[in-house]
Amino acid sequence: MSPKIPFTIVCLLIGGQLTFGQQKAPNTVIEQKIDALMAKMTLEEKIGQLNQYTGDRAATGPLTTNSTKYLDIKAGKVGSMLNVRGVTDTRMVQEIAMQSRLKIPLLFGLDVIHGYRTTFPIPLAEAASWDLGAIELSARTAATEAAASGLHWTFAPMVDISRDPRWGRVMEGAGEDPYLGSLIAAARVKGFQGNGLGNKDAIMACVKHFAAYGAAIAGRDYNTVDMSDRLLWEVYLPPFKAALDAGAATFMNSFNELNGIPATGNAYLQRDILKGKWGFTGFVVSDWGSISEMVAHGFAKDKTDAARLAITAGSDMDMEGHAYVIGLKKLVEDKTISIDLINDAVRRVLRKKYELGLFDDPYRFSDAQREKKVLEDPANKVAARTVAEKSIVLLKNEGQLLPLSKNLKSIAVIGPLAKSSKDMMGFWSVKWDNDHLVSLYEGLQNKVGNNIKLTYAEGCGVSDTSRAGFAEAVNAAKNADVVVMAVGETFDMSGEAKSHANIGLPGIQEDLIKAIKATGKQVVVLIMAGRPLIFNWTADHANSILYTWWLGSEAGNAMANVLFGDYNPAAKLPMSFPRAEGQIPLFYAAKNTGRPLLNIKDPLYKSAYLDMPNTPKFAFGYGLSYTTFAFSNLKLSKAQISQTDKLQVTCTLQNTGKYAGEEVVQLYLQDLVASVTRPVKELKDFRKVFLQTGESKEVSFVIDKEKLSFYNQQMKWGTEPGDFKLMIGNSSDNILLESKFELID
Ligand code: BGC
Repeated sequence: MSPKIPFTIVCLLIGGQLTFGQQKAPNTVIEQKIDALMAKMTLEEKIGQLNQYTGDRAATGPLTTNSTKYLDIKAGKVGSMLNVRGVTDTRMVQEIAMQSRLKIPLLFGLDVIHGYRTTFPIPLAEAASWDLGAIELSARTAATEAAASGLHWTFAPMVDISRDPRWGRVMEGAGEDPYLGSLIAAARVKGFQGNGLGNKDAIMACVKHFAAYGAAIAGRDYNTVDMSDRLLWEVYLPPFKAALDAGAATFMNSFNELNGIPATGNAYLQRDILKGKWGFTGFVVSDWGSISEMVAHGFAKDKTDAARLAITAGSDMDMEGHAYVIGLKKLVEDKTISIDLINDAVRRVLRKKYELGLFDDPYRFSDAQREKKVLEDPANKVAARTVAEKSIVLLKNEGQLLPLSKNLKSIAVIGPLAKSSKDMMGFWSVKWDNDHLVSLYEGLQNKVGNNIKLTYAEGCGVSDTSRAGFAEAVNAAKNADVVVMAVGETFDMSGEAKSHANIGLPGIQEDLIKAIKATGKQVVVLIMAGRPLIFNWTADHANSILYTWWLGSEAGNAMANVLFGDYNPAAKLPMSFPRAEGQIPLFYAAKNTGRPLLNIKDPLYKSAYLDMPNTPKFAFGYGLSYTTFAFSNLKLSKAQISQTDKLQVTCTLQNTGKYAGEEVVQLYLQDLVASVTRPVKELKDFRKVFLQTGESKEVSFVIDKEKLSFYNQQMKWGTEPGDFKLMIGNSSDNILLESKFELID
């Protein structure tokens, strides 16, 4: 796109018809106020609105007011700050903005990814709950706390689909599936934005990272992304669209290039799709320095050139890249770019400031009393515990070892993470002075008091190579009724820039499990991690395994509730767990290929590995309960449907075990023959159903045209007549009911 073409014309040229999708159409009163304000703004002041700096706050230290950043704020050269938080600090910085000529309030943004004052489970853990209400509650609680603490904006939700657990940022997302990911994306946006911007407890969501960041080659963070348009549209974009339809106020672009063009300078993504086809009325913030990084990408000559490319492609705000302040003025003055590009971006930023009510009262989020009350609200911890319980996946439970009896005499609590409080916070939590998260050991103490003797041995550190602590741990195990082990990753092992080529249990932790298992005692292993890890020996030999991820403030209490059956686990994996790194990328919605592996004993000249099965160790959608469920009575309302019909699907779910509990009934479809090959299975719906012991319920689904559609050879969204296989199960690899129907016309 020529940088000299004004944006309004560009819109007509590339965006086609400007629709607003389900985004709210701009409010005319606000638009008029923006017109009036922009008429008074100098070019520098306009560029200032597009400039975001980070605060100088050290993790716990005070703000320094003599930084040039604050002089810039006073001069109207800054539109937003990130990493300034708390009523005191945000008020102080806003007061500086109020000394600027036009008194345009600042936006305060922060990574409120899984909780603010109260830490919730990491997003991947929450995704395992398959519980949209719980996920919305988590975001709502975080937003209420953050809004009471001076913040207007969170850089969440992260909706990047990823099928590569080597990529440390899988912990921030919802896993591998676009359908589940889309529902979760929408739930988080609703949670953050509550009843809408303008309410004092609503903060702006920022959907990130646009786009395809989760497909970094070989799982190496920031690496190149090269993918077909089909994969982009079918798998990577849907959660972004769902978040937009849920009303997301802002988007963040991404560090990666997509097919040779950095996302930050990518007009196809930001102008054609997001602002054109999807009618997004909010603004796009760059990722940290991603505008300037286009120089390193080999896409821009210098920062000024990067500014030209970014603003032209639709990046509205520059996060800590300093490219817009350096380059935009000159680019407009020498007519390299049109002022229309700047005006459009500024309008988008101001629109959100008006919608938040900041022009009426720039301090409306800065009430110290409210901050204290909300941050100390005990209901927030209860919410965190509830969501944590729902996030724990029961992977194995040999001989129904779990739930543990409350009549046990002693438990040996062993492992490097058993007493860890810090690691329960996960990578993207907000740090607090004297913060305390409940460790597994404390959770167990809270639960059993003096009734059961707990003995503790660390055994080894997470990354240790020394076995010096094994003897003490083995001794503790020998003297206990049962062993509970806590292994996994420290909080900083999965997250941004935390790619790993090996994703086995770190260090010698699996050797420690072997040593403990050799005592002959029954062993429950809790794995605390930010990504799917590989732990084949443990999977085959431990008696019971709970995948607990990093669960946040109430981690230990939630784990103790699950261990003793005060909560019956019901979570399901949102990502496939590989047997070996060599299987990655590994995902359930794969294609059949021309040579599918039908018999594992006959892999030759089949699409197969000769040294291991194709299948994951634990599949997408897998997770056990303390009870058992029976699926029966699958009924389809018709054998043939037309495009306008809706197919009613019902089945019966019965709790056949000894405990009340929940099951996630998962519905998958396969389009058997199409002009473009389709995956062997695609999740199209699910229901999480609670049943008392012995109780049955009818579970119903509706299949409509949308669920049968895909992008055809011309990349047009729609259906093709033909047969579909319908599968219902409790995991992607455990289909319990199956049927077929035909789509006619
Ligand atoms: C991350 C973003 C984050 C930003 C601000 C970047 O490094 O990629 O996800 O929002 O920093 O902290």
